[in-house]
Parts: sequence; C-alpha cells; structure tokens
Amino acid sequence: MHGHDLGLSAAENYRAFAQETRGRSPAYESLATAVAEDPVILHFLDSLPPQKRQPNLLFAAARYLLGRPAGIGALRELVGHNRDELAAVMRLRRTQTNEPARCATLLPALAQLPPPLALVEVGASAGLTLLFDRYSYDYGGHLIAGPDPRAPTLRCEPRGPVPLPVRVPDISWRAGLDLNPLDVTSDDDVRWLECLVWPGEGDREQRLAAAIAVARHDPPVVHRGDLLIDLPALAEQAPAGATLVVYHSAVLAYLAPADRLRFADTLRMLPAVWLSNEGPGVVPGLPVPPHQGAPFILARDGRTPMALTDSHGTWLHWLPASQS
Ligand SMILES: C[S@@+](CC[C@H](N)C(=O)[O-])C[C@H]1O[C@@H](n2cnc3c(N)ncnc32)[C@H](O)[C@@H]1O
Repeated sequence: MHGHDLGLSAAENYRAFAQETRGRSPAYESLATAVAEDPVILHFLDSLPPQKRQPNLLFAAARYLLGRPAGIGALRELVGHNRDELAAVMRLRRTQTNEPARCATLLPALAQLPPPLALVEVGASAGLTLLFDRYSYDYGGHLIAGPDPRAPTLRCEPRGPVPLPVRVPDISWRAGLDLNPLDVTSDDDVRWLECLVWPGEGDREQRLAAAIAVARHDPPVVHRGDLLIDLPALAEQAPAGATLVVYHSAVLAYLAPADRLRFADTLRMLPAVWLSNEGPGVVPGLPVPPHQGAPFILARDGRTPMALTDSHGTWLHWLPASQS
C-alpha cells in the first residue's frame, strides 16, 4: 500500500500515492502530486502523529467535511481556514476502506480448503469482506451466482492458472475483529466508508452501496479488539468440525514492523489456516515473488505466496507453483 510508509516523509508518501492512483483516480493522482509540493499542507501534515498523515485519511476527511472530493484549491482552503476541524476528523477517524471486491481475490484460496469454513477476519472494518456467500462473482465470464440478486457482482479478471471455484464453500461461522468496527447500520459510518472511495474509480461507489444495502439486512459481527491481543480468544469461539481460517487484507501495513512479527508468531500458534493479502514485504518472513509492481500478495500460512492481487480486487494473478 503506497502512502503509508512511516519511514518516508509526507511528501514522499504523497508522491507514492500519486503513483498508486495513476490510471485509477486521475483526481487523486493530481491532488496527491500537488500536496507533495505544497509547503503549507505538508506543514499541517507534519503537525499530526505520523500514522495520521496518510493520503487516504486526509482526502477522505476533506471529502467528509466538504461533501465532495477535494481539489487542491478546496484542500488549501480547508487547511487554511478549517485546520482544527480537519485535524479533528483525521485524529478521530481511521483509514478503514472496506472493499467487498477483495472477496473475489480471496475466494479461490478459500475454495481450496475443506468445508465448512469458520472465518475470522482481522482488521475487518465494517465486515463487508466477511460476506463471501452473499455476493455474485464474475471471473472474466466464469460466473458464480449468489443468493441475492440485489447484492453486487464482484468482477475480477483472472490471470494465470487461477483455480476458479464453481461455488462459494459453505461457511458455518464467521466473525470480524477490528480496533474500531464500523457499523453498516450507522449513516455516519456509511458516509465515512463512502468518503474513503477514490473518485472516478469505476463502479466502486455503486459496489460499496450495494454491499452495504445487503449487509444491513443481516449485519456481520465485528468485535472491537486488537489483533495483537484479542485474536486467540476469538478464534477459540469457532465451532469444532470446521476449517478455521484467519485472514486479513490491507491491514498489516498499519502495524509497526515489530508488531507484524508478534502477529505472525500468534498466527503460527493457532490451529488455523492463515491467509494474508498484503503489500510486498509487509508479512514478516514471506518470500516476495517477482511482482512487477503488483500491490498485494495473497499468501498461505505466512510462507507460501499463492497469487498477486489488485489492491481493490479487480484482478488476480495466480502463481503456478501454488496450485498443488
Ligand atoms: C484498510 S482497512 C481494510 C478492511 C478490510 N480488511 C478490507 O480488506 O476491506 C484496515 C482495517 O484494519 C483495522 N486495524 C488496524 N490495526 C488493527 C489492529 N491492531 N487490530 C485490529 N484492527 C486493526 C483498521 O481499524 C481498519 O478497519
């Protein structure tokens, strides 16, 4: 994930984010490029704790206050005249983008496991990435129909020898864990989730709205807690007779390197399959395959890379060795 490297300056992080958004969100590419050159906004960012300087957080907070995505002029105004209000939203809120399409990149790995599955998602945000069996899927024409016609169809381009499932495996139990669970029934939390979507990025806004509408009928359970502390107790609640899967996507980059190691140690003690979908170099000890700039690596048990994946779930490149 670009823009979240605590070892880089704010300007460097905004330049990295501009690269990540290139071709996906022209508005945010040019906004991030402009912020990287703006001494007043950079000075404002430097007044915040390092983990609160991220582009996603600043841009979502500005959108939350303005009611529309900011351009550089509006952002300068906000920093100039509503600095405290902007800082307050950034201090209160977190980058909690919940992208249901990531289910499409995780599903082929889940479908290889013996069902039924008991799922624990750490860093689950609003729980939309717990609801694999509510969505429909379209893998370049390979269709998997979900039970609810109002639910979104997650479109994911398969690349390489993806073991495409014919159906979603049975899920007998599921739970999320998050420092700050978002509530799909809260209008304010939903507004924050909407503000986190990059403007102009295909059908993401519609997909999010459809996923939230479906989730509201039967909200996913996401417990408040820290993945460094509360995971073993939650995993213990999983029913016997199911394959326990602990998974996460776009989460470990928010942890300090020493905490990522602690988390990996905890995972290795649990009787669970561990699926990670994180940026290259983020999962401690995971070999990094040639990734040609791919944002995420889907891996099993912190040891075996399975696929390169798009950070927003639009494509999945399966690595041949992981088929067996
Ligand atoms: C970018 S969101 C990703 C949400 C979801 N996994 C997805 O892929 O759409 C990262 C989430 O991780 C959560 N998080 C970060 N650090 C955490 C920790 N130590 N324990 C639990 N949750 C954490 C954040 O609150 C946030 O909701």
